Amino acid sequence: MTKDDVNKSRRRFLVGATSVVGGIGAIGAAVPFVASWNPSAKAKAAGAPVKVNISKLEPGQQMTVEWRGKPVWVVRRTPEMLKGLDSITEELQDPQSEKLQQPAYAQNPHRSIKDEYVILVGICTHLGCSPKFLPEVIPDETVGGFYCPCHGSKFDLAGRVFKDVPAPKNLEVPPHMYVDDVNLIVGEDKENA
Ligand code: FES
Repeated sequence: MTKDDVNKSRRRFLVGATSVVGGIGAIGAAVPFVASWNPSAKAKAAGAPVKVNISKLEPGQQMTVEWRGKPVWVVRRTPEMLKGLDSITEELQDPQSEKLQQPAYAQNPHRSIKDEYVILVGICTHLGCSPKFLPEVIPDETVGGFYCPCHGSKFDLAGRVFKDVPAPKNLEVPPHMYVDDVNLIVGEDKENA
């Protein structure tokens, strides 16, 4: 990759990072957005699998649930978001997800069981802050992703970490399984049920 390409990719992501301030206002009513994370005592104590109904999650939205005291994101990706994932592999530290940050069934280019939905532990692999969701995809400008304002780490919409940031690994994909088209379980899967 040339220096120009690197600069372009930085700019592409930063457009998303800076435009999110305006973006939140536009999408705030529709998107379940968690600004900061304070897990409940119940979630901390439990650690049990969590059932999640995703029937109200629209394309392009993120929802957050608690599992083992951690925020777990469910993101419903649009075709544009999925296309963006394929265009940035050279900009990523571990594009093939070779490090063990996901179960075997999510070790694929989209890091998910179904292309449309990705399930991620919303904890930065640097020092544990919770990154912000940047949903905006504009061709040739921004591919969207997750931005960690603590020290500037960036992840794509499959939770894959970009190069030249402090975070050393992709975001974790927790064990999960689909019960039917609109219900999934986080914390349990078919291999370990
Ligand atoms: S905790 Fe995310 S960049 Fe440091």
